[in-house]
Amino acid sequence: MQTVVAIADIREHVRAAKGAGRRVAFVPTMGFLHEGHAALVTEARRRGDFVVMSVFVNPLQFGPSEDFAQYPRDAARDQRVAAESGVDVLWTPEAGEIYPTGPSIMVDPGPVGTILEGAIRPGHFAGVLTVVLKLFAIVQPEVAVFGRKDAQQAFLVRRMTEEFNLPVGIVVVPTVREHDGLALSSRNVYLDPAMREAAAALPRALEAGVAAFRAGERKAGSVVAASYRALANVAALTVEYINVLDPAEFQPNHAATPRSYLVLAARAGSRRLIDNVILGDGLESDPRLPARASDAAAVG
Ligand code: PAJ
Repeated sequence: MQTVVAIADIREHVRAAKGAGRRVAFVPTMGFLHEGHAALVTEARRRGDFVVMSVFVNPLQFGPSEDFAQYPRDAARDQRVAAESGVDVLWTPEAGEIYPTGPSIMVDPGPVGTILEGAIRPGHFAGVLTVVLKLFAIVQPEVAVFGRKDAQQAFLVRRMTEEFNLPVGIVVVPTVREHDGLALSSRNVYLDPAMREAAAALPRALEAGVAAFRAGERKAGSVVAASYRALANVAALTVEYINVLDPAEFQPNHAATPRSYLVLAARAGSRRLIDNVILGDGLESDPRLPARASDAAAVG
C-alpha cells in the first residue's frame, strides 16, 4: 500500500491505474479505522481493481459545539487497517489543500438534509456533501462505497450523484456490529463502560421494532412505539428520534413496509449514537464481530 498526501499525487496514482485499465473504487473515511471501514474496502475490492481510501477529518461537517478537535485520530492504526483490508492507495489530504479559501460555494442537501441528523446538526450534510463532491472530483472513481450505518448520509450522497449526474456508482454496505449488536463507530471509544453497556440497548430497540413488524404491525407509529418501549428503562440513554422512513424519499411515513428504514438516535451523556435497520431484513443480515476476552470481562 502506498500513502500520499498531496492532491497532485493521488491524481497521478489514479491516472496511472486508469491508464493500465483498472477500475477505481473509492472509500472515503474520517479515519480511526475499524472493521466497518474494512468491510467497505472488501466491497470496494469486489467492485473495482484499484482501491483508494481517503482519511480526512472534514472540519466543514462539524458544528461549532461538536467534537472536531477531539475526533479520534490514529495514523498508525489507519495505516495498518487500510493495508490489511486491501487498500491500494491511502490518501490523507491536508485541510489547507482541500479548503485553501473557505469554501465559498457549498452543496445544498435539500429537504432530506434538514430532518433527523440534519435537524440536530445544522449544516452537517452541506459539509458532508461538499467534501464528498470534492473528493469525487479529485479521485474520479468509477464506484464509491458507503456504510448503511449512516443511512441518511448514504441516501444524500446517492441523491447528489443522481441530481448532479456524477459518473460514480454508489454502493451501500450493511452495518458491521459488535458481538452484542452495537454498530461499530469511531466514536465508540468515547463511551465509558456504563454508557457502553447502555448503548447495547439501541440495537435491541431496533430488534423490537422489527419484531413488531414481523408480527404483522404495519402502522409506523406502532413499530416506533415498540422501539421506544425497549428503551424505556434505559436511564443512561435519552432518545432524540425514532422514525420509520420510506426508502424512496427518506421521509417519515405512516406505513411500514419491508423496505422501510427504522432509524434512531440517542444521547448517552454528551455522546450521540445513531443506528438503523431495514424492517424486512432485520439485524441478522448485518455482520457481527465475535466477542473478545475484554468484552467478557466487561459483561461478567
Ligand atoms: P466515517 O464516519 O469515518 O465513515 C466512513 C464510512 O464508513 C461511511 O460510509 C460510514 O457509513 C461507514 N461506516 C461507519 N461505521 C460503519 C459500520 N459499523 N459498518 C459499516 N460501515 C460503517 O462518514 C464519514 O466518515 C464522513 O461523513 C465522510 C463520508 C468520510 C465525509 O467526510
